[in-house]
Amino acid sequence: MTTGKEQFVEFSIKSGSPEKQRTSCVVVGVFESRKLSDAADQIDRVSKEHLSEILRSGDMDGKLGSTLLLRNIPATLCDRVLLVGLGKEREFRDKEYRQAFAAAIKALGETGAIDATIYLTELPVKRRDAAWKIEQGALVTQETLYRFEQLKSKTDEVKRHLKRLTFSVTSRKELGEGETALQQGLAIAGGMELAKNLGNLPGNLCTPSRLAQEAHQIATAYDLKIEVLEQPDMEELGMGSLLSVARGSRQPPKFIILQYSGADAAQKPVVLIGKGITFDAGGISLKPAAEMDEMKYDMSGAASVLGTFQAVAELKLPLNLVGLIPACENLPDGNANKPGDVVTSMSGQTIEVLNTDAEGRLILCDALTYAERFEPTTVVDIATLTGACVIALGHVASGLLANNDTLARELLHAGEESGDRAWHLPLWDDYQEQLKSNFADMANIGGRAGGTITAACFLSRFAKKFEWAHLDIAGTAWKSGKEKGSTGRPVPLLVHFLKGKCQD
Ligand code: BES
Ligand code: MN
Ligand code: ZN
Repeated sequence: MTTGKEQFVEFSIKSGSPEKQRTSCVVVGVFESRKLSDAADQIDRVSKEHLSEILRSGDMDGKLGSTLLLRNIPATLCDRVLLVGLGKEREFRDKEYRQAFAAAIKALGETGAIDATIYLTELPVKRRDAAWKIEQGALVTQETLYRFEQLKSKTDEVKRHLKRLTFSVTSRKELGEGETALQQGLAIAGGMELAKNLGNLPGNLCTPSRLAQEAHQIATAYDLKIEVLEQPDMEELGMGSLLSVARGSRQPPKFIILQYSGADAAQKPVVLIGKGITFDAGGISLKPAAEMDEMKYDMSGAASVLGTFQAVAELKLPLNLVGLIPACENLPDGNANKPGDVVTSMSGQTIEVLNTDAEGRLILCDALTYAERFEPTTVVDIATLTGACVIALGHVASGLLANNDTLARELLHAGEESGDRAWHLPLWDDYQEQLKSNFADMANIGGRAGGTITAACFLSRFAKKFEWAHLDIAGTAWKSGKEKGSTGRPVPLLVHFLKGKCQD
């Protein structure tokens, strides 16, 4: 797949004084109330208070995310100095760090600088070490530079000059861990970019077959095992629930199985399952027309599994990982599921399809049953499953439900560390009642109340044989509005989670 960026930026880590950098731009921070960061202060001293004077003149007030480009600062070896506003020093945390960093990269991209040394990575951020700051720096940089222009016949000819970026660390002792953190950040960013490209690709191009093709490409590039089940294979396995959704579409369904072996074959794998609905019109329970285009992102779970596989393989994490992607479309058709239809899942449990738009759970349940054959230690499914999750948590946190509290804690922690947060919702038995059906073992919907929870309750009935967690990414996988597009989440959370799994 072609990348969204016109060109790659090369990254490195360095330790040294800002005034001695022979580079097109040195990037330093200023807090509100005109307090200089250490690196800015250093430049101020050698330049005989050049920066202080500019601040006194009122050209820059240190507001978070503001920037000011300066040239020809006395006693420095760089062509430019970019001042970046950091906001209030006492409030400078994860979010502010990311925001200031993004502002710096955006401003740099608008200059003619070909290389830059960034000192923001030296700023103290509460409870965060150099490694965290560098990883986040790499992530935010790649995110800020990302463009999706592969479908425009003419790209906006804004030439980007920036070719090399150097992140500074305060001492040579931090160079080693800095380098590792940089590689980790870039691997995650690469996985996110893959996920974003697939999410942004429309339904006519990103079909189940296209997802299978992409999986094949990753498998070839990283020497992974891959198998793609076709409709007859799924019939033989008895995946009646998945196939009932696929029936309404002219695109053949695919069931993608990826396997990464980074540890001894005897070691039980972690299984990731990604919802791969390449377009969700709702089926016979048709969705309203407004914003229906956004349902091309309904394969974001699948995309995040592919992105995570790429990052894990890139980082050569020492664990065994299986990826399962049930992929099909959900469309209205003469052959489609009808409200009231009863289908039999691979597990043998029967399901009354009261709403054909609750299709995600219908394809995931068969993937969960299929996961049993890998005897996994842990299964995590990732799905744009419910509109209710967008109402509950907005676009900030992914919904997290699990049949095991330790697993839930691990995932929450991975979210905190990676800046890709989730929030734990209850999966109490009290909610299971809402899935009662008069005609089958269960209904596929549980009414409007607690929609995210009852969806997870449905899935939990197919996840009895292992530790399992469900991430509802309906609100986090993409942004609506002016900056509409795929976010690449929750690749950072998943990679951090899997890294944690390697250490036990
Ligand atoms: N893919 C949707 C969930 C969704 C909705 C994601 C809005 C992002 C934004 C899912 O397949 C769906 O349609 N869910 C229904 C379930 C309902 C019928 C119980 C929903 O949330 O409306
Ligand atoms: Mn739906
Ligand atoms: Zn859907």
